Amino acid sequence: MGPRRPRGRRRDLRGRAAGTLTGAGPADTRLRVAVVGAGALGQLVGALLAHDGRAAPTIVSRRPEAVEAIRYRGIEVRRLATGDPPLHARPAVVAAADAPSAAFDVVLLLNKSYDTGWAIGLARTLAAADGVVVALQNGLSSAERVERADPRGVAGVIYQGAEYVGPGVVDHTVAGALVAAPPPARAARAAALLGRLDSPALPVRVVADRDAMLWEKAVGAVSNAVSGALFLPVRAITRSASAWEVLERARAEVLAVAAARGVRVDLEVLRSRFAGRPVARDNPGSTYQSLRSGRGTEIGDFIGEIEACGAERGVPTPVLATLRLLVRAREELSASVPAHPVTSEDAPDGSNRPNA
Ligand SMILES: NC(=O)c1ccc[n+]([C@@H]2O[C@H](COP(=O)([O-])OP(=O)(O)OC[C@H]3O[C@@H](n4cnc5c(N)ncnc54)[C@H](OP(=O)(O)O)[C@@H]3O)[C@@H](O)[C@H]2O)c1
Repeated sequence: MGPRRPRGRRRDLRGRAAGTLTGAGPADTRLRVAVVGAGALGQLVGALLAHDGRAAPTIVSRRPEAVEAIRYRGIEVRRLATGDPPLHARPAVVAAADAPSAAFDVVLLLNKSYDTGWAIGLARTLAAADGVVVALQNGLSSAERVERADPRGVAGVIYQGAEYVGPGVVDHTVAGALVAAPPPARAARAAALLGRLDSPALPVRVVADRDAMLWEKAVGAVSNAVSGALFLPVRAITRSASAWEVLERARAEVLAVAAARGVRVDLEVLRSRFAGRPVARDNPGSTYQSLRSGRGTEIGDFIGEIEACGAERGVPTPVLATLRLLVRAREELSASVPAHPVTSEDAPDGSNRPNA
């Protein structure tokens, strides 16, 4: 038998005693919120909730460097959206492997859509029996998957914008609401829980029409695909009439697919949203950020799903398909391995390969 661990060791490793891993003390009646993922939005939302103080947020991350940085330094939010001085907040943080079971009233999924399967599995463990698990990723399928996988699953979208600077540092680029559309059987419980998160910094709305919520978000988020294809921040789209036209055509295709599916998108709401804030000044866009950092984009899930819905209903989506291919090409060209098998016809210097 090896030497006994000092009693305080486990506590040190986790940064706090097991009973307080939720960020809420024993007599604390605040809502216990798990924020899955310490990326751009995870750090932002965790920090906004901690700063507001009405809920007790815990960020759950797979990366030890993120856990350590947030635990010891907290999170700095550089408030580009409002021009206010940086905000410092100290949400609780825990490694995914150490996260407590059945301990959270609300679980917010803020990972990328390609990690949704993993995140849903984790969320099933994290959420209390009468809690809710809200999928907030861009794209249509995360919502469906969370609803199907767990009776506590709720479809949601988020209109905040953030750029990942590093572990414990995030730029807040767009202020906006968290919107959730729980299924009727869960609506009252979800509204009661999520209503307690509502604050000026993070407005929360609960709506009835889930499909309208998801498709309205998709119309807005398609700017990510244009910025990814251009390999420029979203804000650059406003500086080019041609890029703007591509965006308008892409949005028109999303709206046509939504209409063919019978989704009642509120065009007036969309018009006023885009007129007031066509594309936020400081918003780099999710796809551009992923390309720049060499991490995978969600383009196949996000745009690919809309294309698939269009194909089902006979609605052509050539602009969306081209944007998806351009973003994929950018991913392939920046990868270290060739995107197609190397053949004997390849020039020795690689100059005739598509990614040369
Ligand atoms: N950013 C925005 O402005 C914005 C706006 C609206 C919607 N969304 C949507 O919200 C979801 C999350 O987006 P996001 O922008 O927050 O994504 P992100 O910064 O790429 O973070 C996504 C996940 O990747 C991991 N991660 C982050 N940085 C990493 C790094 N340097 N190395 C390795 N792993 C890292 C984190 O999980 P671990 O901590 O577990 O490693 C994190 O949860 C997406 O579906 C996105 O489309 C984003």
